[in-house]
Amino acid sequence: MGDPADQSFATTLTQQLQTRLLGTPLHFFPTIDSTNTYAARLARDGAPEGTAVIADSQSGGKGRLGRSWISPPGVNLYLSVILRPPVPAATVPHLNLLAAVAVADTIVQVCGLTPAIKWPNDVLVGGKKVCGILAEMQTEASALRSVVLGIGVNLNAPLSAFPEELRDKASSLFLSGGRLVDRPAFAADLLTHLEKLYVLWLEQGFRALRPAWEHHAAWMIGTQVTVAAPEGTVVGTVLGLDSDGALLLQEGNSGTSRRLLAGDVTVVGGYTHGVRS
Ligand code: BTN
Repeated sequence: MGDPADQSFATTLTQQLQTRLLGTPLHFFPTIDSTNTYAARLARDGAPEGTAVIADSQSGGKGRLGRSWISPPGVNLYLSVILRPPVPAATVPHLNLLAAVAVADTIVQVCGLTPAIKWPNDVLVGGKKVCGILAEMQTEASALRSVVLGIGVNLNAPLSAFPEELRDKASSLFLSGGRLVDRPAFAADLLTHLEKLYVLWLEQGFRALRPAWEHHAAWMIGTQVTVAAPEGTVVGTVLGLDSDGALLLQEGNSGTSRRLLAGDVTVVGGYTHGVRS
């Protein structure tokens, strides 16, 4: 049993949920190692699509590329949702882009701030990362069984929650917008946006999500970036997004265009979009 504030987060969220699929059932923990790890276990045990796991804090929050995700109690959102889309495993990366759009739309709606998506799925406000997304899939004989879509949003974390070396790169919506964010309201709205986009993607594929993703990531077009991709480091100018969500780059020295399916983007010369001077 956690403290009463934890329980009221779960109770209020349950009362505010307006979804048909996502968030039912909802597992809430005052603290857990990682909501993604727990959700993956539930998925292996046959939990239905839509099952959500939320924790008030994580002791082993997982980030992309083996990094950790700072997960202090009482301030942020740590959410994992089990999905069972009847699609080929190769299209699972679309869910990262889908989740980034859902988070960006929720930030606009609940906080009135202007988020920016950095390919593939970082959500920034004022030039600093406020959200990370980690989609992990389970396959069986190369068939997709389930996906755990993990989303961490820094809602009300104070500056002291971030180690010194992250303070110029990461922030919270509270620090960026100056107002505390209602955690259950944000979580309920995010699940609504996620569900709407997920249904759209199932029915119409990635092309239906692309305009919304491009809207939030429009700042990237023409920007010089370095991408740490699995195939090596690529430096170039962003041309746009391919029809399947791949990043299209014009390579610096050769002028040839490149398609990247995964990677970590750094803006050459630093990120300036939406940064207050
Ligand atoms: C990233 O590195 O940007 C991805 C971070 C993903 C963090 C979330 S918090 C909820 C879920 N549980 C985890 O352990 N990780 C994801």
